[in-house]
Amino acid sequence: MLSQNPFGSVNVLCLLYTTDTKEEVRTAVRTALEAGYRHIDTAYNYKNEDAIGEVLQEFLKSGKVKREELFIVTKLPMIHMEPKLVKHSIDISLKNLQLDYLDLYLIHFPVPFEYDGNDENTFPETESGGWKAAEKFDLLGTWKAMEELMDLKLTRSIGVSNFSISQVERICKVAKYKPVTNQVECHIYWPQKDMFEALEKLGVTITAYAPIGSPGRPQFLKGNGDQIALLEDPVIQRLSQKYGKTPAQILLRNLLQRGIIVIPKSVTPERIRSNIQVFDFSLTKPEMDEIDGIKFSQQYFYKMGAMFPTHPERPW
Ligand SMILES: NC(=O)c1ccc[n+]([C@@H]2O[C@H](COP(=O)([O-])OP(=O)(O)OC[C@H]3O[C@@H](n4cnc5c(N)ncnc54)[C@H](OP(=O)(O)O)[C@@H]3O)[C@@H](O)[C@H]2O)c1
Repeated sequence: MLSQNPFGSVNVLCLLYTTDTKEEVRTAVRTALEAGYRHIDTAYNYKNEDAIGEVLQEFLKSGKVKREELFIVTKLPMIHMEPKLVKHSIDISLKNLQLDYLDLYLIHFPVPFEYDGNDENTFPETESGGWKAAEKFDLLGTWKAMEELMDLKLTRSIGVSNFSISQVERICKVAKYKPVTNQVECHIYWPQKDMFEALEKLGVTITAYAPIGSPGRPQFLKGNGDQIALLEDPVIQRLSQKYGKTPAQILLRNLLQRGIIVIPKSVTPERIRSNIQVFDFSLTKPEMDEIDGIKFSQQYFYKMGAMFPTHPERPW
């Protein structure tokens, strides 16, 4: 059960930051595919789809992997959320990735940004250094445009990211095609229990980003005061010693056993190879309960929501 995701492909995967170089991205994808990863998570905003596309082509052309074995995910950027821009955006992503279709296309974030006609200007800034949100936004209109991509066979499934429970519910009420997942921050200090319970009732999965606490992310992208590293948590450290597994493997295994899809990121070949070695051991029920009982709470990606205090679609 744990080795399958709800879309029928291998569950664990890797991916990548905008701060990583194209060469690091190419090496990471090569290492990941060699190590058995098949699910690659990227985004228009990460500006690395082209480097990923190059490596996918290498592997597809050489026959090392077949297209139907891959599970490629990318995301609609905030600047392209107007319904008339959605197809324009996926066309660019598909061209970058050198693919005819995606396996999953996500709306990256529920707050739209102003589009100035420049497809490169993904984070348009205000004079005070914030990001320029577009006030007018028709969430359901954007979802309808996402559904049209399904009918055009440009993606095999659609979903959302960073959405609140009520935003997912609003979509599910009217959807022709429901979101298959909500990709959100999820780990032992931000376990998304309410989200998991509510979405399970709707048949929507959770994909966990920052599953090991995003330790290397530049501070300006995080921003919730002093931060404690998940990898150093005493419960995780103890289980790591007991099983002879790394703290990262314990954190990933815990999420998988909760039925959550995980997308750990690494550009370090040794870590990429070790992060997928999570199918040869299990945490016991008392150990899962002990992790579940950790009281410390910390959202690393707090700033993304806090930037838009008055926007009607701010998710947190
Ligand atoms: N939808 C969204 O808004 C959103 C937001 C954030 C992230 N994401 C997605 O989720 C993915 C994962 O999230 P994330 O990158 O923020 O956090 P993460 O996967 O929790 O953490 C990645 C960091 O952990 C390090 N690392 C990886 N494996 C390790 C190990 N075994 N031991 C110690 N350190 C290790 C990596 O370093 P090295 O790379 O240097 O090895 C990197 O600095 C992203 O790549 C992206 O695809 C989506």
